[in-house]
Amino acid sequence: MGEVVQFISNGTEALSVRDTVGLSMAHDPVARYIAKESHMAAFWDALISVYWSPKPRELHLMTKDCKSVVFARFHPEEKVSGLQAVLRDLRTVPTGKLSKLLAAIQLGQKIDRGKAAFAREVGPYIYVFVIGTRPECQNMGLGSILMRHINAIADSKGLPCYLESSSEKSRRFYERHGYHVRETVFMDKGAPPLFLMSRPPGSACSKGCTE
Ligand SMILES: CC(C)(COP(=O)(O)OP(=O)(O)OC[C@H]1O[C@@H](n2cnc3c(N)ncnc32)[C@H](O)[C@@H]1OP(=O)(O)O)[C@@H](O)C(=O)NCCC(=O)NCCS
Repeated sequence: MGEVVQFISNGTEALSVRDTVGLSMAHDPVARYIAKESHMAAFWDALISVYWSPKPRELHLMTKDCKSVVFARFHPEEKVSGLQAVLRDLRTVPTGKLSKLLAAIQLGQKIDRGKAAFAREVGPYIYVFVIGTRPECQNMGLGSILMRHINAIADSKGLPCYLESSSEKSRRFYERHGYHVRETVFMDKGAPPLFLMSRPPGSACSKGCTE
């Protein structure tokens, strides 16, 4: 796999993986709408806890020294419900307000509906749950290495990919890698957008996604 390696929940790299996800997602607009800045690390820790695995997985990948990581899954074999993830998350991280709690639950339901609609349309697919590069290592091509790797696995199996993008920057990044927005959802009035995006197998990436 060269510059890309798999990680496991009980490996020596696990702490760094958690750190990289927490640091890269610290200013995520959708997560920040639900939880306070001081709770961000715990928020992402709780969310990825649903995805951790003690066994190597083809779609749990990091670049050298864990500067960039991705958690992805084969659906439906490794399905995780968005609502389940949100509820588990909210048990750990206080949202502060009942309205935010309800908004987060609604978002989990919208995420699940989006994934179910996609599955009805295409059948099995790869779900990219989160990709993050440590802030000081962003814009150096590391996220693209992981994205190209996931896309290559998808292409080799003839599978489409699906994900939710929670910022304009990440949406642009995914678009460069052949993804397009299927639908934009909001937790509630005033909440930041969440872009539901997909990529057909074999979709070409545009300038900027190659080295
Ligand atoms: C989105 C994210 C994962 C991208 O990771 P990254 O390692 O910065 O990705 P890359 O460096 O491959 O590409 C990022 C940008 O740098 C540019 N770039 C890539 N290689 C480069 C290089 N060698 N020199 C300069 N710029 C480069 C790319 O063209 C890309 O531009 P874009 O923002 O206009 O698309 C990262 O910005 C991140 O962690 N963001 C916060 C977390 C997040 O939003 N995650 C997604 C949740 S939905």
